[in-house]
Parts: sequence; C-alpha cells; structure tokens
Amino acid sequence: MTRRFAVGILVAAIVAWPRTGLAEGSIEQGRQLGFTCLGCHGIEGQRNAYPSYRVPKLGGQSRSYVEAALRAYREGSRPHPTMQAQASSLTDLNIADILNWLDLNEPVNDSATAEMVAGSAAAGVCVTCHGADGEGVAPKPPTLAGQHSDYLQHTLHQYKDGTRSGNVMTAFAATLSDADIEAIADFYASMDGLETLE
Ligand code: HEC
Ligand code: HEC
Repeated sequence: MTRRFAVGILVAAIVAWPRTGLAEGSIEQGRQLGFTCLGCHGIEGQRNAYPSYRVPKLGGQSRSYVEAALRAYREGSRPHPTMQAQASSLTDLNIADILNWLDLNEPVNDSATAEMVAGSAAAGVCVTCHGADGEGVAPKPPTLAGQHSDYLQHTLHQYKDGTRSGNVMTAFAATLSDADIEAIADFYASMDGLETLE
C-alpha cells in the first residue's frame, strides 16, 4: 500500500465516521429558542397545574440528561403534553443551541453519601449513581440536589407506576414506598444544588 493510498483511506474513514454527537449549536440561537422556556423554568416556584407540582429547576442540571429529556419528550416516550409540545418542533441543532445557552458544562453534582440517606434504607442504593460516585454512569444521571421536593415525588411515582418508563429508574423506584418517596425527595430538596433559570 502506498503512503498516499493509506492516507486516502484514513481520510475517507474519518469523513464516513458516523456523527453521533450533536452539532455545535450557537448560544445566541439558544437564547432566542429558550425565551419561551423561561416563562416556566425561569419563574421561582412556578407550578404545573394538574397535578400540581413545581416546575423542575434546570440551572446546573447535567447536560446529557437535559438532552435526553428533551429527546424523550420530542419522541413521546416521556409523557407531559406541554413539554411534548415544546420539544416537538426542536431539531437536533435547536437542542444543541439550547444546551449551549443553558451553559450546563459544569453540572452541580450531588454530594449525598450513603450515611446521609441512612434514614431510609431504600435510599442507600440511590447514591451509587446520584451521589458523589455518579461519575461515569451512562447516561449521566440527573442531579437531584436542590430540586423541588414535589417534582421529585411526582416523577418517582411516575417511574413506579410506569408512566415514565424505558430507563433504569423503573427498577429502583419499584421498591420505594410512598413514605420512602417523600423522605428521599425532601432529603435531596434540602441540599444546595440546582437553581431556577434566570
Ligand atoms: C408551560 C410551562 C413550561 C414551558 C414553557 C417549558 N417547560 Fe420544560 N417543563 C415544564 C414542566 C411542568 C416539566 C415537568 C414535566 C414532567 O413531569 O415530566 C418540565 C420539564 C422539563 C425538562 C425535564 C427536567 C427534568 O428534571 O427531568 C426539561 C429538560 C425541560 N422541561 C426543558 C424545557 C425547555 C428547553 C423549554 C423551552 C423550549 C421548556 N422546558 C419549556 C414546564 C414547562
Ligand atoms: C444505576 C444508576 C441509578 C440508580 C441506582 C438510581 N438512579 Fe435515579 N436516575 C438514573 C438515571 C440514568 C436517570 C435518568 C432516567 C431518565 O432519563 O428518565 C435517573 C432519574 C432519576 C430521577 C428523575 C430526575 C428528574 O429530574 O426528573 C429521580 C427523582 C431519581 N432518579 C431518583 C432516584 C432514587 C430515589 C434512587 C434510589 C431509590 C435512584 N434514583 C437510583 C440512574 C440511577
């Protein structure tokens, strides 16, 4: 094989390599697309109406998780009429724009340890992924620290009853009692962490 031929194959291979990552996206585009998001995610204590629970905080959330959540709403695998409508028209590039605008490069990490959640035996397993050891778990788990307690409870019930399905949480939520769910949600909500967007 001549050197030029080898280089040619290498270039062809690089060009043909499937692009799995998102396009780069622009912060300015994201700011424009994200303006409507602030109507809910940028208002402290804003509530979802039926059922009533506070809109989740996005500030400091894991980037890959926000991406996965928007895709799940867009594809319809995660239920919620408003968020499905919000995400339905977003292209992959739009999502990349929004992620850049949100500036989620440095997620707030949960710093929960097994000792801290010792009050609830069922919660011990959660810190394996959501606690300080959550690095390297794929897909990167969402940060829970500082999230609204009523949102966490709502979503844990959804994992438990199967309305939010198709991911690892189904198995972990299945073993939680209502009392566990309340205790765990209050525990994570009491920590410093996520913030309402500004
Ligand atoms: C009308 C209010 C409203 C608007 C506007 C809105 N959201 Fe939401 N968003 C919500 C609610 C309520 C939830 C929780 C839904 C659920 O229970 O799954 C949510 C959930 C999310 C989640 C998942 C958070 C998590 O912790 O799982 C992401 C990500 C998100 N929204 C991003 C956006 C983006 C980006 C926009 C703008 C394109 C947007 N939202 C516009 C109300 C809104
Ligand atoms: C094997 C790793 C792993 C373990 C153990 C685990 N989780 Fe999760 N958790 C995840 C991942 C990944 C997601 C994102 C799933 C999705 O896309 O819906 C998630 C999502 C969540 C969410 C939704 C957050 C949001 O913003 O909507 C909550 C709440 C949660 N987990 C709580 C718990 C609790 C409580 C436990 C213990 C009973 C637990 N998790 C155990 C990996 C894990």
